[in-house]
Amino acid sequence: MKRSVEDIDLKGKRVLMRADFNVPLEYGKVADDFRIRASLPTIEYILDHGASLVLCSHLGRPGGEVVEALRLEPVAHVLSELLHQGVKNVDDCIGKHARDAALSLNPGEVLLLENTRFHTGEKENDPDFAKDLAEMGELFVNDAFAAAHRAHASTTGVARYLPAVAGLLMTKEIEVLSRVREDPKSPLVMVLGGAKVSDKIGMLEHFLNQADALLLGGGIANTVLKAKGIHVSASLVDEKSLETARQMLENAAGKLVCPKDVVIAKEKDAGADHRTISVGEDRIPDGWMILDIGPRTIAEFEKRLADANTVLWNGPLGVFELQPFSQGTMKIAEAVAGLDAETVTGGGETAAAMQQAGVISRIDHVSTGGGAFLKFMQAGELPGIAVLQEKEVQVE
Ligand code: 3PG
Repeated sequence: MKRSVEDIDLKGKRVLMRADFNVPLEYGKVADDFRIRASLPTIEYILDHGASLVLCSHLGRPGGEVVEALRLEPVAHVLSELLHQGVKNVDDCIGKHARDAALSLNPGEVLLLENTRFHTGEKENDPDFAKDLAEMGELFVNDAFAAAHRAHASTTGVARYLPAVAGLLMTKEIEVLSRVREDPKSPLVMVLGGAKVSDKIGMLEHFLNQADALLLGGGIANTVLKAKGIHVSASLVDEKSLETARQMLENAAGKLVCPKDVVIAKEKDAGADHRTISVGEDRIPDGWMILDIGPRTIAEFEKRLADANTVLWNGPLGVFELQPFSQGTMKIAEAVAGLDAETVTGGGETAAAMQQAGVISRIDHVSTGGGAFLKFMQAGELPGIAVLQEKEVQVE
């Protein structure tokens, strides 16, 4: 068990908190605040317990230089709206200006440092950069589960210089995902979609024995259908993973539930000509592609889900951003939200899909992790978690 922010006397302390504010931006504004909202319980806890708070995060992949479009200012705006208080922000995450701003904070005040990835030292986990960052606080709280698969200065490096504990979101992610990974209440039904199989191989290997059924959609289903010898025409297929798909069919054919019918279209476009066909019976015309599961498949998935005691979902079942191809993901989201089972979803696109379906509050746990979720489900550990103190360790 990791030591958490709740195990510390925070009064009068200056806390450096790593959050994952890597959120989509549109026209200079935050387009989806799910990850910001997810960090609020920890932020509020720290402020309510008499500490001042210095927040840091990466945003996008600026490659070690300042990219104007990847400044964290839009996040500071959203944060101050959500917290109903001012959030100061500075134009760097280290250096005199940032340090002065951090040191002048009063208890209850919040400062957001600039994008940590504006410095090469972040990704390189440079000890000097980590030390400079660590000087911003007296205690390190890592709440950035979604970035915990990266061994960067702000996720692991600072823990060399400061007592390091988990935030409330981090604690919840570890607790829920570990339970589902190690001791899921059976039957466990997995819903797997998304573009790539290769990303999910590690997770699949871990769960193939434990899961009672794997409901497949998206590119992963197309890949398995192709491995079965079905003509998928121009559908998205993870060619590199065809052999893995063949092995899955050999070892776990009884558990794999492939689409019976699919929605196909000529183009990946909301206005494209589209139709529903039966898989294996109707031929997909040349140049057409599978963009969603069809109504018979939705009904079959709903039936399988009804028996589940645990549901683990990663990856959308179709191109849910485009209305004609969103039905599969939206209907299954609704079905999962209504189940009397432990329901857990993970993956960046999956969280966005749950948001679109309006079911976030009815899913037991929507992980904030994308790559971190997949890696944690595979390995049960991540670098940004490994550096955090265990419960027994005493922190002054
Ligand atoms: C994510 O969005 O998955 C995390 O914020 C990590 O981002 P990265 O893949 O750029 O490291």
